Amino acid sequence: MNLADSELIAGELENFGYTKAGENDNPDIIVLNTCAIRDSAEQKILGKIGELKKWKKANPNSIVAVGGCMTAQPKVAEYVAKTYPFIDIVFGTENLSDFSDMFKKFLLTRKRQIQTNFVHKTNAQRNQIRERKINAWVNIMHGCNNFCSYCIVPYVRGREESRDKNEIINEVKNLVKSGYKQITLLGQNVNSYGNDNPQIFGNFSGLLLELDKIEGDFRIRFMSSHPKDLSEELIKTIASSKHICHGIHLPVQSGSTKVLIAMNRKYTREDYIKKVKMIRSILPDCEITSDVIVGFPGETEEDFNETITLAQQVKFISLFMFVYSRRKGTVADTMEQIDELTKKDRIKRLISAENKIATEVAKNMVGKTLRLLIEGYDEKAKAYVGMTDSAKAVFVYSNENIIGKFVNATISKNVGSKLYAQN
Ligand code: 5AD
Ligand code: SF4
Repeated sequence: MNLADSELIAGELENFGYTKAGENDNPDIIVLNTCAIRDSAEQKILGKIGELKKWKKANPNSIVAVGGCMTAQPKVAEYVAKTYPFIDIVFGTENLSDFSDMFKKFLLTRKRQIQTNFVHKTNAQRNQIRERKINAWVNIMHGCNNFCSYCIVPYVRGREESRDKNEIINEVKNLVKSGYKQITLLGQNVNSYGNDNPQIFGNFSGLLLELDKIEGDFRIRFMSSHPKDLSEELIKTIASSKHICHGIHLPVQSGSTKVLIAMNRKYTREDYIKKVKMIRSILPDCEITSDVIVGFPGETEEDFNETITLAQQVKFISLFMFVYSRRKGTVADTMEQIDELTKKDRIKRLISAENKIATEVAKNMVGKTLRLLIEGYDEKAKAYVGMTDSAKAVFVYSNENIIGKFVNATISKNVGSKLYAQN
């Protein structure tokens, strides 16, 4: 989502006549598009802002703008503006038109533009400068209504708003026509697509059905899905489709029902396992990936072990593991916290358990033939890098340049969780 937003910000700048600076150019404007999902992301950005101070001193006519989810928190925006007076523009994440307006005002007046008051506006179609040539990100909705108790997203990105269905279909048609091979549909919870206007937009399955009718050699991926909203209809749509990946990112967050309730996830461990069974009964080759958080307030050793046993049971093809990070303004921030040492110890143990699971999953994939989209070449491995339906990387040996192509490759070996294939 953040990468897609950066491409959209680049599009806004292009509308003003700017072009992307080359590696060795001294840019006229630098925009930092920040993330606020965890404290570590914010710390990284504060470090980057610090680095820019010297540069700005040497280039006083250049413009520095900081925007995104971190500065969509009014208090943080105020802090950034006050602490770093050399920043010219501070903006949020909900309305890109705000950035354009502020940028224009700055160009005209050279007066600092600091946004600390965010009023939602409907997002119109925008110019997007796509960084990648094979994969295109396509936003299908903005915002989130779920308010998981640990999560800052609903506060910084606002409420769910679906993009116009025809606008999405036209955009994907054009992308396929211009040679993109993979279209990744983005939303905080794509399964809610259309809920804000079902009569006009229909639902997510309906959107996928329409997109699947587009002709060409391409595939459609989407992220993320909330387990509570993932329907059998959606899985059946995928099963009958030509272009939609057999891969679902289904963040579980915890294996303990008690923790899931405290997280406000609205499903139990058993509900989640049932959903996975439903997916695999309709789509047996479906790759499932997930996110988990350890160290959520109140998580006991028993709860933590339930996350490990769930990962063992489901056997995700990839698992993204995070240490719980306190976010100001969220409900979980007011709960009794777990000490840092315990959190660190748990993530270590989870990573080590996951390594074993991932190796086992990789071993079971040896001999299978998968359709891979080749996204690049890895100099170190001296092999092409192909992506499975769920974006698991596979090293592919080939004598010809296969970048940008789909290949059917048989997995020849695994080294730990890494997969290798011969084209
Ligand atoms: N602390 C740690 N991880 C978080 N995530 C979201 N909020 C937090 C937080 N406060 C994780 C969730 C989500 C992923 C994008 O980031 O696992 O699915
Ligand atoms: Fe955050 Fe939950 Fe919304 Fe995902 S569904 S963005 S975790 S509040």
